Amino acid sequence: MTLINGKATATAIKAEIKQEVEHIIAQGGKRPHLAAILVGHDGGSETYVANKVRACEECGFQSTLLRYEDSITEAELLACVARLNADADIDGFIVQLPLPRHIDEQKVIEAIDPRKDVDGFHPINVGRMAIGLPAFVSATPKGILELLRRYDVKTSGAKCVILGRSNIVGKPMAQLMMQKDGGDATVTVCHSHSPQLKDECRQADIIIAAIGRPAFVTADMVKPGAVVIDVGTTRVADATRQRGWRLQGDVDFDNVAPLCSSITPVPGGVGPMTICMLMLNTLAAARHDYYE
Ligand code: GUN
Repeated sequence: MTLINGKATATAIKAEIKQEVEHIIAQGGKRPHLAAILVGHDGGSETYVANKVRACEECGFQSTLLRYEDSITEAELLACVARLNADADIDGFIVQLPLPRHIDEQKVIEAIDPRKDVDGFHPINVGRMAIGLPAFVSATPKGILELLRRYDVKTSGAKCVILGRSNIVGKPMAQLMMQKDGGDATVTVCHSHSPQLKDECRQADIIIAAIGRPAFVTADMVKPGAVVIDVGTTRVADATRQRGWRLQGDVDFDNVAPLCSSITPVPGGVGPMTICMLMLNTLAAARHDYYE
């Protein structure tokens, strides 16, 4: 069984990005600049954004964190997005989700200039990605594809089952895995109302679990020799940890791992790759790789 080390892979890619940034600077170019908007004090979001800012430092990027209280109005947030759209020094930016309930998330996403949408959430980028045009691709599915490539997992012709149909992971993952220039796999998407979910999983060469239910994928759902990718990061109570909780994936790792040809751990699997792909998207934005 191969443990797919997302942390080490992300470290290697960030070193590659840093080299590229130094090359850009040496040629008189501009340092890539990522901005992040964080609304409120959600613990998970605080951690994610802090990790994104740290990753910027590791890659040699400039970063700007814009913090707002939960009480910010939708109009104020949209005005902030408009300022970042117009700021020539900002190459790309993200609005950390989720947003407070009084703010229309989709409206905010659609206000972002697609050329600066390094999360790849704007419908223009989602649509371009879906038909195989150059676009910013959502970081988690992009990172998973990169992990599969770097670990030489054969995806072409494989049966891939994706658990979950979110806009951020499940749907773009299905698109990327089915595309000829992507995974080139036969893809099945299962979700909370799929009656044959367990049977589908048992037939899968590759399972990508992004359903947000701790330890949902059990050993009886996994074909011996399968590749299992775990996107889940639920905080579950754990009295043995000083902070009182630990991150639990969507996979019952201890019982599933012995069956697999390869598997990602939680933490240290998909998570570090997600942030790393955001850095790659920011580099692409700074280089105008996808848009003039
Ligand atoms: N919340 C959870 N994942 C993400 C992400 O990838 N980007 C943003 N902006 N918010 C998130």
